[in-house]
Amino acid sequence: MGLVTTKKMFEMAYKNGYAVGAFNVNNMEITQGIVTAIAKAKAPLILQISRGARQYASMSYLKAIIDVAVAENPDIPISMHLDHGDTVEICKQCVDDGFTSVMIDASHHSFEENIRMTHEVVEYAHAHGVVVEAELGQLGGIEEDVVGVEDVSAHLTDPSQAEEFVEKSGCDSLAVAVGTSHGAYKFKTEPKLAFDVIEEIGKRLPGYPLVMHGSSSVLKEFKDLINQYGGNMPDAMGVPEAAISKAAKMAICKVNIDTDLRMALTAKIRQVFAEKPAEFDPRKYLGPGRDAIEKMVEHKLNVLGCTGKASECK
Ligand code: G3H
Ligand code: 13P
Ligand code: ZN
Repeated sequence: MGLVTTKKMFEMAYKNGYAVGAFNVNNMEITQGIVTAIAKAKAPLILQISRGARQYASMSYLKAIIDVAVAENPDIPISMHLDHGDTVEICKQCVDDGFTSVMIDASHHSFEENIRMTHEVVEYAHAHGVVVEAELGQLGGIEEDVVGVEDVSAHLTDPSQAEEFVEKSGCDSLAVAVGTSHGAYKFKTEPKLAFDVIEEIGKRLPGYPLVMHGSSSVLKEFKDLINQYGGNMPDAMGVPEAAISKAAKMAICKVNIDTDLRMALTAKIRQVFAEKPAEFDPRKYLGPGRDAIEKMVEHKLNVLGCTGKASECK
């Protein structure tokens, strides 16, 4: 099977109380680590590409790597998704480039403009058989510089707006702000998600798939290795895995993970350099990083509850 959209994945994830992992890819090793784990676990997969990834590796290289992953895993449904498309034009471009899912992130615009831009992307994407994720509310992390958010809780998605937004824009899934943020520093104190917001949106939009960005857990294993081997991330804190599992059983059908991949790779590279300072063969430090990503993703799929679900999502 070639690339698929997320339609069937979300339908099954919603019905059976799990979420599909959406992992950011930036190079071959990261992609291979993720895909090897997925193939072993027989789980559905969303591979997502950000603007930073396109700038770093170029679209054509990343697409070629994903094409190989798809060809080598005919039994696994894989979707190629644009992460945080910030303009209508980039979304249309990605539809033309063969993405099966695009995100238009116009959440920093007014409610009306967000609807207008999302609707324009929906019309174009749907005409080409591509699905659309939109965003409502303001996450912390990378979006803080957009709005100057200090208190994330003041910018959670408003459930009544969510209902109107989905109806008017026609988007296929909605990224909601429920207390998560991008990056490795998500909470200064006790981590807390707004499960009541997920529940309320779920009631207003029955059967409708929600997306949770900023869902890395900042795993202790990798944080400790990074700090032990010359890194400096003592205050890093992510979303507890129990909270991710709980959200996955609710209306959250797609869970975005990038930071945990970055930290796994970084931790192993640091460890190799510290233990073998004479090492200069990239395969000897990228290889262990790739293996760590594979193990981490396999574990993550259990947290999301999507291990073994590939066949029902086809
Ligand atoms: O949405 C955030 C992702 O982690 C992508 O980040 O733009 O640095 O690739 P990036
Ligand atoms: P993390 O930074 O928590 O991995 O979130 C990634 C993300 O939401 C990509 O869109
Ligand atoms: Zn995101």
